[in-house]
Amino acid sequence: MVVREIRKNIYSIGVVDWNRREFDALIPLPDGTSYNSFIIRGSEKTALIDTVDSAFEEELISNIATLIRMGLDGIDYIVVNHAEQDHSGALPMLLELFPMATIVTTEKCRVLLEKLLSIPDGKFKIVEDGETLSLGDKTLEFIHAPWVHWPETMLTFEREDGILFPCDLFGSHYATSELFVSDERALYAPAKRYYAEIMMPFRTQIQKHLERLSEFDIKIIAPSHGPFYDRPEIILNLYREWVSDDLQNRVLIPYISMHGSTGAMVKHLSDLLIARGIDVLQFDISGGDIGRLAMELVDCATIVIATPTVLFGPHPKVAYAAFLTNALKPKARVATVIGSYGWGGKAVSDIVAMIHNLKAELLDPVYVNGYPDESAIADLGKLADQILEKHREFGIAE
Ligand code: FEO
Repeated sequence: MVVREIRKNIYSIGVVDWNRREFDALIPLPDGTSYNSFIIRGSEKTALIDTVDSAFEEELISNIATLIRMGLDGIDYIVVNHAEQDHSGALPMLLELFPMATIVTTEKCRVLLEKLLSIPDGKFKIVEDGETLSLGDKTLEFIHAPWVHWPETMLTFEREDGILFPCDLFGSHYATSELFVSDERALYAPAKRYYAEIMMPFRTQIQKHLERLSEFDIKIIAPSHGPFYDRPEIILNLYREWVSDDLQNRVLIPYISMHGSTGAMVKHLSDLLIARGIDVLQFDISGGDIGRLAMELVDCATIVIATPTVLFGPHPKVAYAAFLTNALKPKARVATVIGSYGWGGKAVSDIVAMIHNLKAELLDPVYVNGYPDESAIADLGKLADQILEKHREFGIAE
């Protein structure tokens, strides 16, 4: 992407990865992504904030060359908010081109950069929480914000223009030529998907970071993925909602059905819940978009995982979804498992064991032999009643 000036002497020099469709060989990227990088040119010193994925380092260098043609005389500091390679990948190349540059980061990040990219020890300036760095007429303040989403992460605040550079936090995997978000409705799904896939396991830490950020007069939020916010309240309010303890009166049912028995259980339970005034979202895992499942996990009050039995255990795709659900630690307060079997097995108990990280109360599973009969439907009715009772306790159902 071409160089663009965000505010006077503050430039966006990052790249858009229009065609990337997967991150970490795991996370689907239906909208591509970007790796944002910035130059802040103070009256005395120049800082670069966050680099890009190494696959795009030539484009980054080309953008820096553009600024050099415009009078930039070097880079004094390279601020590394986060060590993950999609932001640090071009660091070795930058150090070759600007050998006098000092890397500004946290001690934990220094250790990671040494391990991940073999960056030698003498290159670093370690900054403490709240420390500032003067570039002349511009000042950088560093905010330690661990676990968004690695332990070493920090945010950088440029005081004079009120720009927060939070790296991954508040980002979205959304390839666009727009510098700033203009259509907040279009950004809602990519931002929520990103929160769900990357930030949700660290919800309680982010609650504290949001409180801390309320002390700052933030005019722009410029994350290192996706477009920037010149109305910061858009993304701050969304994060306040997502990390809060607030729940929707909704049951999410991730499921797979091979021959219709589990599918019939899902349909019966859905109808019973809907009749009790509870929203239901059935999610057929065989459809494959695990990112959408993550999004739906953000604020549902109850999760019911439904599986058939394969080789005496759960369907492997359901096991994968259960493993992911457990890792993402959604805030749901009720969970259970339903399923069917032909001649025996422990599909349901295996899935129950896989979701041990959830803080949810586990209701009794319903495991049915064959197609659900009257007795099974009665058990599902009891389950629907229990879920309704819990939602009433939470104050979200009538
Ligand atoms: Fe965008 Fe954690 O890297």
